[in-house]
Amino acid sequence: MKSDQVISVLGCGWLGLPLAQMLVSEGYVVKGSTTQESKLEEFKNKGIILSLIRCDPDVQGRNAADFFCADVLVVTLPFKRSFNDPSQYQKQIDSVIACVLKTGQIKFVIFTSSTSVYPSRCEDAREDAVFVPDSPRAKVLWQIERNLMNHPGFASTVVRFAGLFGPGREIGRFLAQKKDLRNPDHPVNLIHQDDAARVLFSVIERNIRGEIINACGDEHPTRKELYTKAALAKGLPSPEFSNVNDGNGKIVNNAKLKRLLPGWIFSRRLLDA
Ligand SMILES: NC(=O)c1ccc[n+]([C@@H]2O[C@H](COP(=O)([O-])OP(=O)(O)OC[C@H]3O[C@@H](n4cnc5c(N)ncnc54)[C@H](OP(=O)(O)O)[C@@H]3O)[C@@H](O)[C@H]2O)c1
Repeated sequence: MKSDQVISVLGCGWLGLPLAQMLVSEGYVVKGSTTQESKLEEFKNKGIILSLIRCDPDVQGRNAADFFCADVLVVTLPFKRSFNDPSQYQKQIDSVIACVLKTGQIKFVIFTSSTSVYPSRCEDAREDAVFVPDSPRAKVLWQIERNLMNHPGFASTVVRFAGLFGPGREIGRFLAQKKDLRNPDHPVNLIHQDDAARVLFSVIERNIRGEIINACGDEHPTRKELYTKAALAKGLPSPEFSNVNDGNGKIVNNAKLKRLLPGWIFSRRLLDA
């Protein structure tokens, strides 16, 4: 029974909240976290048991011990561009792992990673590709993934998300008005919020453990084509691209996602948003 399963979503933010709501509507017991006191009132009627938790990098929060009493933990902490030192993110995740081990109840951790872990020259970005991360951020992310996947204390699944778009993050606004942009011919790799939340939900429903999964839509128009069309559709000035391409760019391969989730269909197309 789903009501026997407690899912804790660390970070009921842009992606975590729709996931938490999907889980509540399917009968799971859902615990969520936020750093903002104002959300406690705002989320009151959503059926989520919400706690104030901040990783700074140590996990702080009055109800943290209760939050980490769950069957499954979904970690959606963002790897903020504002971190001067990317290892700050590693410290946050390490402190989350310490809480998981301390409470001792969580046996499955789902981590929201990013396809930015693949080097920009990895043209066919597949989960089994052998690569060396090519930036300090990618190195940290890759190391976190490895630590989680190899952890003896619990099972993990890593979902590598492509760029997220949807309400409040419209494609047409991403590059509107920008000038002298490189890589006009590089393919884009994006996934809509609804589909991204559904991937996480399906991993929980089907109990898919021990996997790294790319979560990226089927469409890969060029940057120039998509961002120009999307800006125009929003009535915004189109971005301006140079003719410079650094290599061919990458395509995030989603074959494994479709293999693990038979019958999977993306519900949103790029220019619908
Ligand atoms: N954006 C993209 O295109 C993209 C692409 C690939 C992967 N991802 C990954 O997808 C995941 C979800 O992204 P998102 O856009 O939904 O992130 P988000 O909305 O910015 O944040 C997610 C949640 O994390 C919480 N949070 C932030 N800093 C925290 C801290 N120091 N301690 C505790 N909680 C903290 C936020 O709290 P509040 O509720 O207080 O805001 C929010 O609930 C992230 O792991 C991100 O790295 C994103």
